[in-house]
Amino acid sequence: MWSQASKEKIEASPHTITIAAIKPEIRRLAGFIILFNGYVWAALDQEKAVLDKPRLDPLTYRDAMSRLAAHVQVVTAAKDGERRGVTVTAACSVSDNPPTLLVCLNGANPRNAIFSLGGSFALNLLSADETDIAHAFSGRDQLDSALRFSRAAWTTLETGSPVLTNAAAAFDCRIIDVKTVATHIVLFGEVVAVKLGEKKPALLYLDRSYRTL
Ligand SMILES: Cc1cc2nc3c(=O)[nH]c(=O)nc-3n(C[C@H](O)[C@H](O)[C@H](O)COP(=O)(O)O)c2cc1C
Repeated sequence: MWSQASKEKIEASPHTITIAAIKPEIRRLAGFIILFNGYVWAALDQEKAVLDKPRLDPLTYRDAMSRLAAHVQVVTAAKDGERRGVTVTAACSVSDNPPTLLVCLNGANPRNAIFSLGGSFALNLLSADETDIAHAFSGRDQLDSALRFSRAAWTTLETGSPVLTNAAAAFDCRIIDVKTVATHIVLFGEVVAVKLGEKKPALLYLDRSYRTL
């Protein structure tokens, strides 16, 4: 319904419609649309600024990370009679209550699918005299899974994931969450059992080579 004022204005000149002639609801809607568009454009500008910002070169990042000393570990899983182990350094504690840790695995390697599908994994610390195990499970020697596992003695705890019998410490975990971040899958595991072995010098990876401590 047109107001009296708007009728008069339209009658006075059929080509002129003043703002006052527009229904208040329509004025409010138009105002909202203008404001909303403003927000959308501001958000798009912000996103464009983030995307346009040059990212840190991955090689520079790797060079910096090569100076971070890390304990070498083998993360293992078993499913339907198949076993897999991978040499990793990207693993750390998350919490002690409940005991929780995380491991980062390359998501582009299809052989790593067993970790998220199996529902559990074990994280085994390597000792100074176990460089051969690190080599085997890093794929360096191109061994099949059976030969990799034949390099050491294995047992199981709660979940059935392979646990290194002589490990200074091994953590048997039930997967509580899996996140994909950038190129990697991050497995979060609640530690349901621990194997504490003899204290031994640790195998570390620093400056792109194995060290001991
Ligand atoms: C010292 C060291 C640390 C590694 N850390 C990781 C890691 O944290 N996560 C990962 O996905 N791969 C890591 N890798 C690479 C994997 O061990 C390797 O890609 C994998 O075992 C290849 O397995 P495949 O031959 O069965 O495909 C590391 C390798 C080495 C030598």
